[in-house]
Amino acid sequence: MPITQLHLAQRPRRLRASAALRELVAEVSVRASDLIAPYFVVEGQGQRQPIASLPGVARLSVDALLPELEQALALGIRAVMLFGVVDAARKTPAGEFAYHPHNPVIRALAAAKRHFGAELVLMSDICLCAYTTHGHCGLLRGEAIDNDASVAQLARMAQAHAEAGADVVCPSDMMDGRVGAIRQALDAAGLTHTAILSYAVKYASAFYGPFREAAASAPGEGPKDRASYQLDVRRRREALREAALDEAEGADLLMVKPALPCLDVLAQLRKTTTLPLVAYQVSGEYAMLKAAAAAGALDEAAAVREALVAMKRAGAQLIVTYYATEALTEGWLQ
Ligand code: PBG
Repeated sequence: MPITQLHLAQRPRRLRASAALRELVAEVSVRASDLIAPYFVVEGQGQRQPIASLPGVARLSVDALLPELEQALALGIRAVMLFGVVDAARKTPAGEFAYHPHNPVIRALAAAKRHFGAELVLMSDICLCAYTTHGHCGLLRGEAIDNDASVAQLARMAQAHAEAGADVVCPSDMMDGRVGAIRQALDAAGLTHTAILSYAVKYASAFYGPFREAAASAPGEGPKDRASYQLDVRRRREALREAALDEAEGADLLMVKPALPCLDVLAQLRKTTTLPLVAYQVSGEYAMLKAAAAAGALDEAAAVREALVAMKRAGAQLIVTYYATEALTEGWLQ
């Protein structure tokens, strides 16, 4: 026996000795079916507009979107989330284009539902910010956001998207009472089977910056930010309150975003609800990883895997990520 040998009952390193052992005792994994791939949809034909702030992501017209969804499905992805982007001419103070039959997401939902049937779960982001002239997620009255008038518009939007083919509507606006109003509107229209994924815990985060460029949805009038409706990052108990309210109002799944800065919230929420939890690795989290990888500062594959694993470990069952197809295509999650 070497003189330096310690008498240790526990040697955690035993189970780290080989890749096979490490694989054997791993507690979480990230699979294709855990991922929700987001897409930006525009009007027109043959459109594929690269987004400078989100390298590798493009705004697609419906005809260009369908082959991409086909590819996602072939990679094992089961769900996609659609975001609409429209020209300034389509925008109005009350964001009526959100539920107009020419809305690109409504068209995409109808086309995708026709094409994929029940094979692909179609999720639609429900929010007014991409359709309002002022860029707020609700209606502006003077310098304030009118909660109840906004909720009425959001319910109309959710119903139109569900009727077009959305399996899951995903309110991301953070108005009070919108989940209940959407549930009521869906049920009254006979859409009892349409699920609601609530962005229940959505912090007023700086990490949404690239998305607002992608969707041309930054606030332009009224309050300069979304702090009067999105959560203050210094509050965690408030997140639990929001989640409990949305569950009581009829939410089927709950989201926490941004993901990596909110793992504590995710972990705590996992203990207090039985609903499936979704983490959203938002645009800024993606852009940071892309920039660091491009600068040669980190190994992109390993960093992406680690970030997604951390979200699963904290309690996320599903993850919305701009990396979904790339990570699977490149085999980064194995
Ligand atoms: C719409 C919406 C936003 C995001 C998802 N839905 C932007 C915002 O709240 O400003 C952000 C997603 C991302 O950054 O990737 N309200």
